[in-house]
Amino acid sequence: MPRFLSAKPDQRLIPLPWGTPLAEWPTEHLVALPRGISRHVVRFIRVGHEVYAAKEVIEHLAIHEYRLLHDLTRLDAPCVEPVAVVTGRTAADGTALDPVLITKHLQFSLPYRSLFHSGVRHDTVMRLIDALVVLLAKLHLLGFMWGDVSLSNVLFLRDAGAFSAYLVDAETGELHDELTAGQREHDMVILRTNIFGEFCDLEAGGLLDESLDPLTLVDAIDTRYRELWAELTGVEEFSGGELDRIESRVRRLNALGFDVAELEVTTTSTGDRVLIQPKVVDAGHHSRRLMRLTGLDTEENQARRLLNDLDTYRAWTNQGHVNEAVVAHQWLNANFEPVVAQIPPDLRGKRELAQFFHEVLDHRWFRSQQENRDVPLAEAARSYVDSVLRNLPDEAMSTESMVQVSQGNTAGQLRNPYDPSHGFIDPDEADDEDEIDPWEAAAEQVDLRTAGMLDIAALRARQADQD
Ligand SMILES: Nc1ncnc2c1ncn2[C@@H]1O[C@H](COP(=O)(O)OP(=O)(O)O)[C@@H](O)[C@H]1O
Ligand SMILES: [Mg+2]
Repeated sequence: MPRFLSAKPDQRLIPLPWGTPLAEWPTEHLVALPRGISRHVVRFIRVGHEVYAAKEVIEHLAIHEYRLLHDLTRLDAPCVEPVAVVTGRTAADGTALDPVLITKHLQFSLPYRSLFHSGVRHDTVMRLIDALVVLLAKLHLLGFMWGDVSLSNVLFLRDAGAFSAYLVDAETGELHDELTAGQREHDMVILRTNIFGEFCDLEAGGLLDESLDPLTLVDAIDTRYRELWAELTGVEEFSGGELDRIESRVRRLNALGFDVAELEVTTTSTGDRVLIQPKVVDAGHHSRRLMRLTGLDTEENQARRLLNDLDTYRAWTNQGHVNEAVVAHQWLNANFEPVVAQIPPDLRGKRELAQFFHEVLDHRWFRSQQENRDVPLAEAARSYVDSVLRNLPDEAMSTESMVQVSQGNTAGQLRNPYDPSHGFIDPDEADDEDEIDPWEAAAEQVDLRTAGMLDIAALRARQADQD
């Protein structure tokens, strides 16, 4: 008799064929979705409109992972949501089967193998790396030692022009009150080994651009992680006359997407030296603000983009003096809702709403540049649906997503597979190389060490200029 360990059981899961090894399940219960490399048998199960990931794994690991994911979810960590562990499975011939851990399928998520294809730009790779580094720092701040950091154990979501990363495999993790430097180092050693191997695999499979090299990439991850950690937690010392540096530090953290809940400020007895150190920082500065103003639940960079559009709307409508929440409500009705309402019901599986809105903004920019006029938002949304969205693979449900598009399917090849707002390549178009790209301009000259969003040195310099 199978037993379900679950906080919120989904009754529709109970009648499934638990007496059959997962690898032999009839396909009527399964959906094919992109998936990373795994040790265990993993399948995606569909019940009604819900899709779950099921992993067959020995009992103590299944329960350990279920509990950890549960704790992480409660701490608001970016990870997949656990649903149940099914134990006590026996086959028809009486042999015992391993339990199955069930998690909610993370909608619109992309495993890294779908994101890499030959010709991936430096800039894009750096965005993936930044997303991974931010994820690791967030987990470490919560006291989570992962023990198995790898690209296969991460899922990427589109996040405006960048990505955000979610933890998918917590089997080896440990949750502590706080991590020691040694515990964080432990994760970094594992990260280096695993990810170096994964980049080498991509290289061997011809999926890594020739200009990118596994060791340089791993070094870049290492450096960025250390820089981010220092910015998030490091002590800064300055003289009593430079108190504005407290404000600067908070602003830099906000720009990196973090809020400071507690900042420790110490002064020497004479008051001529001041020491500051962030004690509690929470990720999600922009997404929290957008949530507060509009109720929209988005990824961090999507929130940044939407908030920018909201600010622009406020300026355009001359409402600088009006309460922000009131303007946000108007903006939702005037800009956001009409745009997302343009998505026909059958195309809902292509994009999350906030991501769609972001891509429409890009598309409008792109078309306005091409046509030398201000393309209205509604027109841009319609044109985006008809010329691009309709031809994109179903990201929520497709087996090959990105790769399929980049290799050219019925609709042709996207100008930029990471930013569909530029549309597909027109076969009659002469030279596409010089296409302007708002997100990836100058990508060719990108220096791996300085590219991307986590350029903390640039952030400091900009701040210093402003002060
Ligand atoms: N909830 C989920 N949503 C989306 N994909 C998932 C989910 N759970 C697992 N996967 C996919 O299955 C793969 C293997 O899962 P994982 O837990 O890493 O198994 P293993 O312990 O065998 O490594 C992941 O890389 C991911 O692509
Ligand atoms: Mg794994």
